[in-house]
Amino acid sequence: MNTPIFRLGLTALCFSFAQLTLAAEPAATLAIDATKPGAVINKNIYGQFAEHLGHCIYEGIWVGPDSPIPNTKGYRNDVLAALKTLAVPQLRWPGGCFADEYHWRDGIGPREKRPSMYNSHWGGVVENNSFGTHEFLELCELLAIEPYVCLNVGSGSVQEAMEWVEYMTSPASSPMANLRRANGRDQPWKVPYMAIGNESWDCGGNMTPEFYADNYRRYNTFVKNYVSGDANRISRIACGANADNYNWTEVMMKNVPARSMNGLALHFYTIPTGNWSAKGSATDFAEAQYHATLVRTLKMEELIAKHGAIMDKYDPAKKVGMVIDEWGIWTDVEKGTNPGFLYQQNTLRDAILAAINLHLFQAHADRITMANIAQMVNVLQAMILTDKEKMLVTPTYHVFEMFKVHQGATSLPFTLTTPDYVLGEAKIPAVSASASRDAAGKIHVSLANANPNTAITITAALVGVTAKSVSGRILTAPAVNSHNTFAAPDVVKPVAFDGAKFAGGQLTLTLPAKCVVVLTLE
Ligand code: AHR
Repeated sequence: MNTPIFRLGLTALCFSFAQLTLAAEPAATLAIDATKPGAVINKNIYGQFAEHLGHCIYEGIWVGPDSPIPNTKGYRNDVLAALKTLAVPQLRWPGGCFADEYHWRDGIGPREKRPSMYNSHWGGVVENNSFGTHEFLELCELLAIEPYVCLNVGSGSVQEAMEWVEYMTSPASSPMANLRRANGRDQPWKVPYMAIGNESWDCGGNMTPEFYADNYRRYNTFVKNYVSGDANRISRIACGANADNYNWTEVMMKNVPARSMNGLALHFYTIPTGNWSAKGSATDFAEAQYHATLVRTLKMEELIAKHGAIMDKYDPAKKVGMVIDEWGIWTDVEKGTNPGFLYQQNTLRDAILAAINLHLFQAHADRITMANIAQMVNVLQAMILTDKEKMLVTPTYHVFEMFKVHQGATSLPFTLTTPDYVLGEAKIPAVSASASRDAAGKIHVSLANANPNTAITITAALVGVTAKSVSGRILTAPAVNSHNTFAAPDVVKPVAFDGAKFAGGQLTLTLPAKCVVVLTLE
């Protein structure tokens, strides 16, 4: 047990909320047992979400081939490059709420002939449908991303959904496959994941769970695999609960056989104030709101446990994956922007929040098979922000990029004792962590220190690890509300971290205040 030492809290000097005080440097301990590997961390936990919302698709990803913004076949080159580095495993499209009013036939064929549509959910804008099925699936091919398509249950029909699946995936000389060929695509695409509706309890049709469960069974019957075997097998994801609506999960698990459902979704957003009418600023917040935001995000742990317990009751073999296909921080929009576009800035706070959630997902890798942060570009907790020809990557992007080493790796069990980060009556664990071993045998340990005022000493015993060296990267910044702007895009970005030592099976480091670190032992 380390004896806390008292020292001048240097990190407090540059933290805007903290006062210059003498601070204790508390200690945390970690024990990782690499001889007892856990579940494989499904790479799909690092999924993204691109909805027809604000400037996510139009301007954010798609500018069209005639744009002066440098592009490849209409996709922005700068965004393509940033996404390639991120190694996005799967991408959910076209919504969200938008999916249940999207009619796919409007988005195929020559672009100049496509009808326009009214986006009733998001800003009331009229879209020209220039980004449709081909544009989405070709984006996925360009970036080696697996597509996750959400079918329209709310305002569509079973026939429309069935024909879309045939259009995308059938190799036969069948009517829809031939329509695809007439539109320039001979071979079917691989579309491994399909959602049957979105938020069917609200914008997707205001259904009861019983009514949706019946509809799920009906739609699912007509989502066909057009290729036998595993070559283009579709995993079906059912609409799941909103936050703590446990009855929805109960009814779905009871009324839909586990064999008919590969995944059951869950949506949960972190609202800094807890009040949807005044959610709080993305960048202008005091320490009390920072702390409260992290308290709220930890509700995810309870949701995973309680929905997971219901799923275990009906599906003890864990055949149905928990698919958290909308999550992240949702703040007030930036001043002067269209409230329906959900454009918000992104700070170091959001990066720490992302790390905490990803650590939770990885701790439940035996049940959580997919997750999709909302959203990929220019919307909510985005990876990328654009402004005409300018682009930046956010602090959250950096966490996803640093954590990509966990994708597909084997989780390693650990025990963690951590001091709390206390404010008033409320407290949260200051340190969160995850450990995995990749296919090459390297061990990756990710750590986050949520405490903005205090560094924490970590002593970690690693059983079964014969590494010779440790290296790492750290993401931190002067303040938890530090963020990147188009004028200063590198305020928050990872740098090398050489503060960790590994000797005699023991890893030691001091985790600075308000940071995310990823270490590699090899
Ligand atoms: O991500 C924004 C919206 O939040 C989605 O369209 C909807 O599914 C959810 O309510």
